[in-house]
Amino acid sequence: MKKTILILGGAGYIGSHSAYLLYKRGYEVLIIDKLIHGQNFDHKWATVIKADFADEKVLNQIFDKYKIDAVMHFAAFIEVGISVKKPANFYENNVIKTINFLDFMLSRGVKKFIFSSSCAIYGNPIKVPMNEKHPFDPISPYGKNKLVIEFVLQDYAKAYDLKYVSLRYFNAAGADPENNLGEQHNPETHIIPLMLRAIKNNKTFKIFGTDYNTPDGTCVRDYIHVLDLALAHILGLEYLNSGGKSDYFNLGTGKGYSVKEMINMAQNVVGKKMNIQVCERRLGDVDTLIADNKKIKAILGWIPKYSDLNNILNTAFLWENINYEGVGIHLDK
Ligand code: UFG
Repeated sequence: MKKTILILGGAGYIGSHSAYLLYKRGYEVLIIDKLIHGQNFDHKWATVIKADFADEKVLNQIFDKYKIDAVMHFAAFIEVGISVKKPANFYENNVIKTINFLDFMLSRGVKKFIFSSSCAIYGNPIKVPMNEKHPFDPISPYGKNKLVIEFVLQDYAKAYDLKYVSLRYFNAAGADPENNLGEQHNPETHIIPLMLRAIKNNKTFKIFGTDYNTPDGTCVRDYIHVLDLALAHILGLEYLNSGGKSDYFNLGTGKGYSVKEMINMAQNVVGKKMNIQVCERRLGDVDTLIADNKKIKAILGWIPKYSDLNNILNTAFLWENINYEGVGIHLDK
């Protein structure tokens, strides 16, 4: 019999790619999502329930109806800058609701949990690339939210036999346009869609700070293709299914690119120059984030296949064209 995986936030960017991969691997996919970004998410391969993952009435109905094997949790607020300005919303959604959900899930005997953590838990790097032993010093409420939940998971694993895998994402990027999946944030704050839209629509791309402690003064990030990221969730789940112990892993490629390097690459992919404006630093940004990914490779057998930067930008560009050039989103045609 197919195993049913419940995906919180499964219509979002990373959740949807992971959900599709689960479906392709033969799992039954059940999604709870508020669809707050206005996504037209009606893929035939998943059952989508439009709800808040904190709605206990809906959760009761779902857990009564389905035999859930494991939960993947993607339903978080993610904009680092906004978390600095509105920490209460972030603690409410990313911490309180998550703990309540864990309690609910455990009360229904579901014990496997894959958590979307973040490299933001480390704060400014002391040593690059960063491995899992890097000290924690998150500088944004978002990073602190993720760290609190990691501590909760550790304690729940000891006390309540929760089996979890926590994946500390670096920068998710790219898309799977062939399967009508890609980045659809509203408002969009991420560098790649904003750069591509600036080039296409002759708008100005703002560089947030050129005075960072990096070779060219702009922030360096480790961009990982969303399909490689999604695969790690399935490997994490299968690792728990085969008796693996609860654990946490950095999830990045091990290579970093500066904002200026990204601009050059994006211009090459689109074949057009971009208007650029240098602005102030954005709240909550750190100089450099690059993963040491030895642990996830060794324990989960994860190997990135899609994360070449050209492929990331090309797939993101294809998705932008489908999504924003009048073609609209026609799912499962
Ligand atoms: N940037 C710009 N201009 C823009 C947008 C971004 O210069 O218009 C810069 C940012 O300052 C940053 C880099 O591009 O240096 C990447 O920014 P993104 O917003 O694309 O990604 P972040 O690194 O801020 O955020 C991502 C995830 C978060 C996660 C974080 C870890 O979206 O969920 O990585 O720090 F927490």
